[in-house]
Amino acid sequence: MNVRTRNLLAACKSLENAANKMTKWRPKFHLSPKVGWMNDPNGLCQFNGKYHIFFQYSPFDTKPGLNYWGHFTTEDFVNYDYLSPALCSDENFDCHGVYSGSALVSDNKLHLFYTGNVKLSGNEFDYVTSGREHNTIHAVSDDGVIFDTKKVVLKNSDYPSTVTCHVRDPKVYNFGDGYIMLLGARSINDSGEILIYRSSDLNNWKFSGTISSDRPFGYMWECPDLIESNGKLFICFSPQGIKEDGFRFNNIYQSGYAPIIGDFPNNCKIGEFTEFDCGFDFYAPQTFIDEQKRRILIGWAGLPDLDGIYVNPTEEYNWVHCLTVPRVITEKDGKLLQNPADELKKLRKNSLKSEINGEFYADSSDVFEAEIQMSESQNAIIEIKDSCTMKYINNVFMLSLNSSGCGRKNRSVKLERLDSIRILCDTSIIEVFINGGEKVFTTRFYPDANDKGIRLQNIKGAINIWQLDSFNIVERS
Ligand code: FRU
Repeated sequence: MNVRTRNLLAACKSLENAANKMTKWRPKFHLSPKVGWMNDPNGLCQFNGKYHIFFQYSPFDTKPGLNYWGHFTTEDFVNYDYLSPALCSDENFDCHGVYSGSALVSDNKLHLFYTGNVKLSGNEFDYVTSGREHNTIHAVSDDGVIFDTKKVVLKNSDYPSTVTCHVRDPKVYNFGDGYIMLLGARSINDSGEILIYRSSDLNNWKFSGTISSDRPFGYMWECPDLIESNGKLFICFSPQGIKEDGFRFNNIYQSGYAPIIGDFPNNCKIGEFTEFDCGFDFYAPQTFIDEQKRRILIGWAGLPDLDGIYVNPTEEYNWVHCLTVPRVITEKDGKLLQNPADELKKLRKNSLKSEINGEFYADSSDVFEAEIQMSESQNAIIEIKDSCTMKYINNVFMLSLNSSGCGRKNRSVKLERLDSIRILCDTSIIEVFINGGEKVFTTRFYPDANDKGIRLQNIKGAINIWQLDSFNIVERS
């Protein structure tokens, strides 16, 4: 451990020790930062039975800052250990942030790949075409906790001359008898694309092609990921610079997936892009395959660059943002379905079951889950905690928030039918899974603690409501 590592870990620890203990708005079953800022989930994997959930973490402020890789582990997505940050900006090649990246389990070691962000000082730089280093770094650990070897495997001069300095978020996979790496990039023509590299030893990487779009589709593609399901190959990424189009692309930046067309891992194109989530707060998701062969996705329940658009009431308590629950991804007819991992059912207690014949009301606890099966749903209205209203009218499903949305108002999606809804409602975040995960809405909201209850109108069917327990998080640092 070098002196910078020791100092940065000590600084993090003392900020965490001084963290505001106020629990208002603190989610009970969503991972949130102890203090400061959280963004992308990173390095998701299962290593020797344990799931590792790293995340972009800046304990210094409630704004993005000098990022660490924060670190949770769990064996069951309910009981968690919270560890010291796994990576921090302790080398010249990552001195302005250990940015996003991925994990690969190989040879009984945990390999992390991430972007070392460096901002050169000087007025002459625009930090897009000059003045910024985005180094691709390989860190290795025997135990999944201490990562004491870090090595730069690609630097800006290794990337193709057609890209700007913005090349980041490596995602690494086994491929054939070697490995591939995807990197998100911004080209010098300001179009987003993904660079593909190949390696036989995880340290020497050779450029092999790009994944791009036929028509312009944003200026930067962040956080690439690959999903293979039922023999179909999808590329997932978070594009920036896409204009709103009716109900689509309503957030500042997007994240979704598209089929890959062409000869992967050589040059290929994307097919039609589908957004992962229709809510206000979802970005930079990452997936991995666990030991049960499930593909699990976790997203950041937040977005960057929202100052002046939404207010973050938790800033008052010196922390912001959280992650989504783990979702299992499956493929059906070319679309990816998302449903909460089954482990979350262990949080359920005190079930209340009822038939619904038009109208229904139940007091709910602060934190609850509801599953509604519908035989009739035209003009359906679902009201949560007097704060969040969902309506299904003329084949449009709309989620609206009152002042509890802190600037968030309406999000909608076209739906041919509405058969079922599963709602996971935490203190300040709601995740809504429609028709078995066909559409999902993830949204932060900040209802008053006295706002409780779930009210339904114009629905025939059945409902099951549970109170939910909190995650159990033990500090091990
Ligand atoms: C996505 C992102 C990544 C980057 C990280 C920095 O939210 O911008 O591209 O690596 O956040 O925190």
